[in-house]
Amino acid sequence: MSGIGSVTISLDGSNKSSKLPLIGGTVGPPVADIRKIYNDLGIFTYDPGYGATASCESKITYIDGDEGVLLYRGYPIEQLAEKSTFLEVAYLLLNGELPNAAEAKEFDTGVRMHTMLHEQLRVFYNGFRRDAHPMAVMCGVVGALSAFYHDSLDINNPEHRRISAFRMIAKVPTIAAWAHKYNVGQPFMYPQNDLGYAENFLYMFNAVPAEPYRVNPILARAMDLIMILHADHEQNASTSTVRLAGSTGANPFACIAAGIASLWGPAHGGANEAVLHKLGEIGHVKNIPTFLEQVKDKNSKVKLMGFGHRVYKNFDPRAKIMQATCHQVLGELGIKHDPLLELAMELEKIALHDDYFVSRKLYPNVDFYSGIILKAMGFPLSMFTALFAVSRTVGWISQWQEMIADPEQRIGRPRQIYTGAAQRDYVPLDRRD
Ligand code: SDX
Repeated sequence: MSGIGSVTISLDGSNKSSKLPLIGGTVGPPVADIRKIYNDLGIFTYDPGYGATASCESKITYIDGDEGVLLYRGYPIEQLAEKSTFLEVAYLLLNGELPNAAEAKEFDTGVRMHTMLHEQLRVFYNGFRRDAHPMAVMCGVVGALSAFYHDSLDINNPEHRRISAFRMIAKVPTIAAWAHKYNVGQPFMYPQNDLGYAENFLYMFNAVPAEPYRVNPILARAMDLIMILHADHEQNASTSTVRLAGSTGANPFACIAAGIASLWGPAHGGANEAVLHKLGEIGHVKNIPTFLEQVKDKNSKVKLMGFGHRVYKNFDPRAKIMQATCHQVLGELGIKHDPLLELAMELEKIALHDDYFVSRKLYPNVDFYSGIILKAMGFPLSMFTALFAVSRTVGWISQWQEMIADPEQRIGRPRQIYTGAAQRDYVPLDRRD
């Protein structure tokens, strides 16, 4: 960050003003450092939803919402999606640079050596109902990891941070796959260390002890690509949750569990599941106009899930890649006619020509097509957000580590504008109306 000038704010009707430093980054809007505004002017700033507020300095991910640009450590998502692998992207997000061959091998081995869960955690699943939503299981089991790893909870110890990162990146696929196995009443499948990251997850998700199982390489590549696309995304709601939890000194497992809880919401990571539910409700192309009229009626509270984004006011670049992958995976799976995909494409086409969406710059986001691929790959709707959490864990950890190491970071503690009752005295019960 570098000082590039100042912004002066003056209070109308007084002689007070505050000269705020203007700070520039590598790319993107500069920021006004408002930390002294209360001392200078006795006022707070107000920004519900933080739409115009930079909560931190970060070197990890950059988004240009107007241009539809997404960079992981400077590399365009399109190039990483085409040429990289999820584990290589994980290394990049965590370390800031692409690994050389030795670094890649060491990182891959480090992950493989931590894929198993403590046997006692198997018992933990038995406490859930068989129909527990996988995200409920992931919140519980990831949070419970801190009860098993007392040797790596000191967040100020770089070695503890390193081993915790490996443990979470390595174990979340196992935790997610076992959540599904628990739902369907099948035995848990142990990770196989001779399989790649995405391949291992698909093995644990699909295999049964009764027969050998070979992962379809088309699905393994598609899974790896989907994981790359979901790995990180700047200061989104769940990442901000992880940073806020981490700012109190909470252990990394608790912070990631908080991120999982935040991601679950249908306005955020839960949107991929909501898209499929909505497409199911619409049912047929002929019902699209009626559905869109509902969406435009504010009182209906109905939204076109998978559309719109706080930052992207153009196409989400991940949605474009996801749509292309949709066609490719369905084609390679020999699915010539997917009614959901056709319905989604017709819905997108109509929405993109409808002034309601165009005027509000509402475009498809990453969640609009991901669910269609995941369903075609055999995942139940309830697993979609859990898969998002598996991918985003490395982004959360990268952002958490960056926050811990940032000398400017303090405990997150926003203020408010109070509009409640002014101070008043207690009224005894016998004198109340
Ligand atoms: C993710 O932040 C991230 O980076 C998140 C994410 C990541 O990788 O971490 O990209 C992942 O969460 C993607 C978003 C998934 N969510 C959905 O698809 C749910 C549907 N989308 C909306 O809920 C909404 O678009 C949000 C939550 C994504 C963004 O909400 P904002 O920025 O607060 O926008 P808004 O609600 O202020 O909307 C502005 C206008 C409003 O209408 P008006 O009041 O101006 O008349 O657009 C309307 C909204 O009602 N609007 C929609 C809409 N999204 C916004 N109307 C219908 N359908 C929608 N989907």
